[in-house]
Amino acid sequence: MKFHVLTLFPELFKAFQKESIIGRALRGKKVGIKMVPLRGFGLGKHRKVDDIPYGGGGGMLMSCEPLFKAFESVTAKGKKVRSIYLTPQGRRYTQRTAERLSKYDEIILLCGHYEGVDQRVLDELIDEEISIGDYVLTGGELPAMVVMDGVIRLLPGVLGQEESHQLDSFSKAFAGKREYPHYTRPAEFRGLKVPEVLLSGNHAEIEKWRRGRLK
Ligand code: ADE
Repeated sequence: MKFHVLTLFPELFKAFQKESIIGRALRGKKVGIKMVPLRGFGLGKHRKVDDIPYGGGGGMLMSCEPLFKAFESVTAKGKKVRSIYLTPQGRRYTQRTAERLSKYDEIILLCGHYEGVDQRVLDELIDEEISIGDYVLTGGELPAMVVMDGVIRLLPGVLGQEESHQLDSFSKAFAGKREYPHYTRPAEFRGLKVPEVLLSGNHAEIEKWRRGRLK
């Protein structure tokens, strides 16, 4: 799978692409992330990417030409491509969304800024609009990272153990319930003890305890 990220702020994605599981997945070629800096498609000497809205009302909109050109620079012929606009007005991102998106060959993520984008961009170029929650952020960059992180960890070979994401929170086994509590060594820390049953080695009892602790 490959992501194309259309953004005015590509620097924001640097640490995301370098560190931890996502960094490892990129180095191991389990996934690709191509940054498409929108400023490069801006108009005129000042590389302008926004303009005032027709009909007034204040705020600036990302304009058609830079965005159409940026999309046209993303070649994805014959691939299963999905183009997504990150916006608080979109459909809520859930684990199910991540699973669905993990099936595409290529995903284009358009990070919004200012008051939004010209409607013709949404009508012509965007397949779906996604929100990561009911709050308004300064732009679509953090939401784009949230979407990518949730999808990339589902890709084959990305997590250490193939099954580990099937066992964790929101997996089908626990039908949307949250996980049980986890403990690691030591068995006692500053007087705080790990539940006895977990030290027992009795797997049936441990399983029973864990089920009882699902929230
Ligand atoms: N852009 C600004 N806020 C957002 C949100 N909550 N989800 C997706 N994109 C956004």
